[in-house]
Amino acid sequence: MAIIAPSLLSADFTRMGEEVREIESVGTKVLHIDIMDGHFVPNLTFGYTMVKALRPISGMVFDVHLMMTNPLEYIENFAKAGSDVITVHTECDSDLGQCIDLIHQCGKKAGLSVKPKTSPEALFPYLDKLEHILVMTVEPGFGGQSMMPDCLDKIAVIKAECASRGLQIPVMIDGGVNASNVRRAAEAGADMMVAGNAVFGATDRAAAFRELSERSEL
Ligand code: DX5
Ligand code: ZN
Repeated sequence: MAIIAPSLLSADFTRMGEEVREIESVGTKVLHIDIMDGHFVPNLTFGYTMVKALRPISGMVFDVHLMMTNPLEYIENFAKAGSDVITVHTECDSDLGQCIDLIHQCGKKAGLSVKPKTSPEALFPYLDKLEHILVMTVEPGFGGQSMMPDCLDKIAVIKAECASRGLQIPVMIDGGVNASNVRRAAEAGADMMVAGNAVFGATDRAAAFRELSERSEL
């Protein structure tokens, strides 16, 4: 069974605390938190103060996805705010090795992400230092988009390289996951899947979370 990580981006921003408590109560273990800087992607969300505000009310793993041009400048703040996993993009302007080292120095798990047009090989120079891999299945920037299924093929490439090095790094996919494609994504090898709209947008979120989890069981 894959780990389904609801994305805070699709929560009701007028009631963040209640939304986080509710989504944790349906059995969520990992909360995906999208940080957008208006440069790396054409959208803005929230900053590390949001992570800090939510940290005391939740025991979920905070999986923080930095869609930022210069994540290096903000890693310490996101770490101190209470992130557990911090993911940066291969396509950003910061030095990726420095980002990963700093995330580790802060005592956090380091993740690296590839956008749809980036080849999975872009991850390879860093694999030995990573605890998390994020494969985008939509162009980052907005929730509620349709999955680009071809992106799922990257998972096998990444897993083969990891296996050849004796590494076991969880691969998460992000974008457009729903009840009709979750099984295909699981079959492609996704260990974790972000689900924004499919969970927060559902009338019965507990049922939606359960359905996605169950359908991902191979
Ligand atoms: C998109 C974000 C995603 C988004 C996914 O740029 O990185 O995490 O919240 O939302 P859905 O599941 O609605 O596509
Ligand atoms: Zn994301």
